[in-house]
Amino acid sequence: MPAVHVINGPNLNLLGSREPEIYGCATLSEIEAQLRETCQSRGVELVFRQSNSEGDLVDWIHEAGRAGASVILNAGALTHTSIALFDAIKGAQARVIEVHLSNVFARESFRHHSFISPAARGVIAGFGPLSYFLALEAALQNQRRKT
Ligand code: DQA
Repeated sequence: MPAVHVINGPNLNLLGSREPEIYGCATLSEIEAQLRETCQSRGVELVFRQSNSEGDLVDWIHEAGRAGASVILNAGALTHTSIALFDAIKGAQARVIEVHLSNVFARESFRHHSFISPAARGVIAGFGPLSYFLALEAALQNQRRKT
């Protein structure tokens, strides 16, 4: 069964109560539940994780790369700081779609640069929880094209 690994970085566990005017009211568990439903109906295994630690994200990207799974990555603020995540994606040859709930380009200038984007297949930002579903659709279409 094909697999999609959704990896979430720092502070995304606070979704629902964290700056709702920017990130909306949906919790990460609610997003996970809806993704799980979609994945079940499409016959895809979903691995869904969140950590506030950079090293966990590095390990999970390696794991997804080894498994040949598609990755949907919202690295949170590590997007804008982490050369380690760039190296992990490159090193593990992971197929990553970068997602953001908010439109990072319409926010502070320090959010305009991403260390993930140059290593990612594509980027989806600004659609709230829908960003994850658009990324899932892209990942599934991509898997289908490869089989
Ligand atoms: C975010 C955008 C980042 O700039 C921020 O640090 C986050 C969330 C988003 O999903 O919009 O933690 O990745």
